[in-house]
Amino acid sequence: MKEIPRGTLQEQTFYEQVGGEQTFRRLVHRFYQGVAEDPLLRPMYPEDDLGPAEERLVLFLMQYWGGPRTYSDNRGHPRLRMRHAPFTVNRAAHDAWLRHMRDAVDELELAPELEGQLWQYLTYAAASMINTEG
Ligand code: HEM
Repeated sequence: MKEIPRGTLQEQTFYEQVGGEQTFRRLVHRFYQGVAEDPLLRPMYPEDDLGPAEERLVLFLMQYWGGPRTYSDNRGHPRLRMRHAPFTVNRAAHDAWLRHMRDAVDELELAPELEGQLWQYLTYAAASMINTEG
């Protein structure tokens, strides 16, 4: 059998596999449309304009999945649990957050295997952000 020379097998990042920046922008834009209408979540966001928060989440997710490291260039180490400490992330907030994410993920219509990976991460990350009982 002929050997495949080193360096010719291209490994794609998850970021690339799902379609790169535009996929993450679609995901997070749809998510924030849900947040904007949500009576529990909307008041938690300190700024009137959700645009900057949307941008931070886009850049974070792009970086997490192997895309450009712009998030950390701008914001430093993510330390997400610490950054959420000022907000009451209880079970209800967690459920609302994930509900809007679920709608947003559905609209991407990714291949089932990719969708499964993304969803597993989002549910795990959301559970780890809970900082308040009840
Ligand atoms: C579980 C329910 C969650 C709630 C209620 C929540 C709420 C919030 C709020 C109110 C902010 C401040 C908005 C801003 O100024 O950026 C924020 C920031 C942020 N959240 Fe969440 N969040 C949740 C889960 C998550 C999860 C699971 C992730 C990651 C997968 C995430 C990633 C981020 C990021 C990257 C920021 C911006 C951090 C920064 O650079 O300042 N959040 N979140």
